[in-house]
Amino acid sequence: MRRLVVVSNRVGPLHDGGKAGGLAVGLGDALRTRGGIWFGWSGEKSDEGTFGPLKIEEHGKVRLSTIDLTAEDAEEFYGGYANQTLWPLLHYRLDLANFDQRYENAYRRVNERMAARLTPQLQPGDMVWVHDYHYIVLGERLRESGFSGPLAFFLHVPFPSPEIMTALPNSQSIVRSLTAYDVIGFQTDSDRRNFARYVVEELGGRELPNDELEAYGRTFRASTFPIGIDTQSFAEFAVSDEAEEHEAQLKVLLRDRHQIIGVDRLDYSKGIPERFRGFERLLQEYPENRGRVSLMQVAPLSRSDLEAYSDLRSELEELAGHINGAFSALDWVPIRIMTRGFTRRALAGIYRASRVGLVTPLRDGMNLVAKEYVAAQNPDDPGVLVLSRFAGAVKEMPEALIVNPYDTASLARALQQALNMSREERKERWQAMFDRISKGTAQAWCDAILKALEERADKKVQVR
Ligand code: G6P
Repeated sequence: MRRLVVVSNRVGPLHDGGKAGGLAVGLGDALRTRGGIWFGWSGEKSDEGTFGPLKIEEHGKVRLSTIDLTAEDAEEFYGGYANQTLWPLLHYRLDLANFDQRYENAYRRVNERMAARLTPQLQPGDMVWVHDYHYIVLGERLRESGFSGPLAFFLHVPFPSPEIMTALPNSQSIVRSLTAYDVIGFQTDSDRRNFARYVVEELGGRELPNDELEAYGRTFRASTFPIGIDTQSFAEFAVSDEAEEHEAQLKVLLRDRHQIIGVDRLDYSKGIPERFRGFERLLQEYPENRGRVSLMQVAPLSRSDLEAYSDLRSELEELAGHINGAFSALDWVPIRIMTRGFTRRALAGIYRASRVGLVTPLRDGMNLVAKEYVAAQNPDDPGVLVLSRFAGAVKEMPEALIVNPYDTASLARALQQALNMSREERKERWQAMFDRISKGTAQAWCDAILKALEERADKKVQVR
């Protein structure tokens, strides 16, 4: 079995303690089985940055290897190109994208340095798996420094249509660098289709059978691998002591009222203002819900030194203030926003106490909150998932109430339907989704990609 080397901007956590999300759980299992390295940013800044010492933590057969960035690299590579150029672009938000040449330079510089620092850590026979938009061009740099082993890339966020993608200056060179990988994974068929269109229309490549594409004389596989969660563990979290404490506390507070729950990083791709407006519309159009239903929004702060994020925070506080001012009663407040985080066990309890899970991104690669909400429900009395058609998760969760978050009236209607749904219908919809997400787990996702990569590696050897 080949050793696995994972590269991602953020590394770990390997050991759960209730903290690791689906991705970390899936990767952690694969790393523990095969042995290997997880390499990325330490999250710290120092003067040496990527020239500084590696920070190594050994956990049995798995090594966590991280490195600092300089303050400049953190600002221009992470805060700049990753979060102000690629993130908005990949989420269809050209209005928020900042195309600054300094940012692109920093992106190329950091990718190159990270490849240079990874190369001496590699051994013959290793397979390397790079994650997400921070490190698109890293594979090409690794190839240039002589790495010829199996190399995979997975994009956790959407790949937009070429009409959007081509707005990125030098998009051809950035997308072209993906052809250095043997396997490229996307969350949904539509992301994969957008990429294939880009390869054909912009790079002069062509589609081959079996998910393969060819461009610049290189053949590579591009496939859809929807990411999952560790459904079983999350369902168990929901009946842990910590979850039950949170559930009980909320039930005391709610008495016989219903709670709608939203949980997202505070990010403009998540459609939180649209969600608040949908809830406001529910209170306006279906007044029987006043005093009877509340919305709790957990929104841990994210990337908060960027303007788009601090603007969003102000907008949300204002909107919630406005709705609360208009509708609050002596013993009831319509919306609560919390920017603090919760452990995953506590969250599972909060999900279980909430009759509706409201997930309304304007664009989202997958959205694991949708899956976690379903995993945490009580099978005898499950809540209802209301899910945006723009979340990758919608493909595997068609039994949710599917909404267009831009359409406030339809959001209010879906909430009303969710709040009045019979237990029988709730159980039926929930069961179908639960069964599906129990199969498409984080572990299954990881295995499928690694299998595809092994297969291609074998094929390459035969061709030679
Ligand atoms: C998304 C991205 C991840 C990223 C996460 C948190 O899920 O796909 O790559 O790590 O957001 O964002 P942050 O900027 O805090 O790492």
